[in-house]
Amino acid sequence: MSAPRKSMHGEWSGRFAFILAATGSAVGLGNIWKFPYITGENGGGAFVIVYLICIASIGIPIMMAEVMLGRRGRQSPINTMRSLAEEAGASRFWTLLGWAGVVAGFLILSYYSVIAGWALAYVFRTGSGLFLGVTADGAGSLFNQFIADPEKLLAWHTIFIVMTMAVVSRGVSGGLEKSVRFLMPALFVILVILLGYAMNTSEFSRGVRFLFNPDFTKITADGVLTAMGHAFFTLSLGMGAIMVYGSYLPKNISIAKTSIIIALMDTLVALVAGLIIFPIVFTNGLEPGSGPGLIFKTLPIAFGHMPGGIFFGTLFFILLVFAAWSSAISLIEPAVAWLVENRGHTRVYASVVMGALTWLVGLLTVFSFNIWSDYKPLAHISIFEDKTVFDLLDYLTANIMLPLGGVLIAIFVGWVLRRETSMHELDIHDRMHIGYRTWHVLVKVVAPIAVIIVFLKGIGVIDAVFG
Ligand code: TRP
Repeated sequence: MSAPRKSMHGEWSGRFAFILAATGSAVGLGNIWKFPYITGENGGGAFVIVYLICIASIGIPIMMAEVMLGRRGRQSPINTMRSLAEEAGASRFWTLLGWAGVVAGFLILSYYSVIAGWALAYVFRTGSGLFLGVTADGAGSLFNQFIADPEKLLAWHTIFIVMTMAVVSRGVSGGLEKSVRFLMPALFVILVILLGYAMNTSEFSRGVRFLFNPDFTKITADGVLTAMGHAFFTLSLGMGAIMVYGSYLPKNISIAKTSIIIALMDTLVALVAGLIIFPIVFTNGLEPGSGPGLIFKTLPIAFGHMPGGIFFGTLFFILLVFAAWSSAISLIEPAVAWLVENRGHTRVYASVVMGALTWLVGLLTVFSFNIWSDYKPLAHISIFEDKTVFDLLDYLTANIMLPLGGVLIAIFVGWVLRRETSMHELDIHDRMHIGYRTWHVLVKVVAPIAVIIVFLKGIGVIDAVFG
């Protein structure tokens, strides 16, 4: 089976549409919810530097590789990998990479949806004026009470899954493309307004120092792995989401330029989010390392005190929901595209089945914050000592599955795919082209070696062997 020339699922209307959709996938809870809290947990500046290095040296080259595979294969990641491996005369084993991606996307969506449900709830909580004049303690305890109630989390999780599947069932240009047109610019404007608030807090400069002054004694091997895993997570790499989006990309569009634009926008949003959160954290005497609830404990303080806080707060959470929505779509699109291609199901049926499964697995996360909050299934292994089921799902996907998926993508493109193919896809006609050669070395050698070392060190294998 060789690759079709056009995707049966349709195509983006042009370069701008692809950038919007891929940015919509990349910018999400990862930037605004996850980046600040893991930066806080890992001591700030040094973690941020490692993260930025990973984005530039591993993230961007692998994003180009992934888009390229998608555009070449023109199908769901599973079928794309199968036909490209066949075309290159390589083993069928590569199809497994597509499968691993489908599973990773599905697992990520199961918890992503629960957190997006928090953001949904906070639209209404902010809108009702709940946070007017709230203190830091007050905002913290309102959050703690909220997540202690499994029924509430379940209700919001259910709503978010239904929203996601409603868009996915409509298909690529009908659903995916339309939802991001206005969202990105609007999100950016409101972030700038919040940044204005943060700049006027008394501890703004302390927040800036926390984010940008590296103290390398604060970072551990596990922290480096988390930073690298997050580079994959935030750019939506390593599981076929960007590959699927690439498969809807028209032929004449520059993969290199678009990838760089997407990565820059994604990084900008994360850094601005950090510049908003940490000044509020320090001004209110909060703890930067207070975990997944960080933005839900800090931002309500800002909304409770700034002029027009109800309006801006409500708008902010609405936009956060939209950002999460456009990311969630890309997490499940590979699975749905595969069910449509190989099982002959309609998009609607495929969406319902996948939605129901994801919803069910999401219960693990819902309960991790309340009735199972003391349940640490792998407590006997030291690096997993204090991890709840949610923490483990996050670790398994972001720190293990995405980096390994990313390495395999890099190896496939660097070693298996013919050079003529990658040159053709990147529109390069000269083997000596400096940009091309840099990229090629990065995907072929640097990224695989770096990821494997960070990975083995992070999970403790290197220390165990060379102790
Ligand atoms: N990048 C998104 C975020 O930062 C999450 C996401 C969407 C994702 N699609 C993905 C993560 C694919 C990994 C793989 O919120």
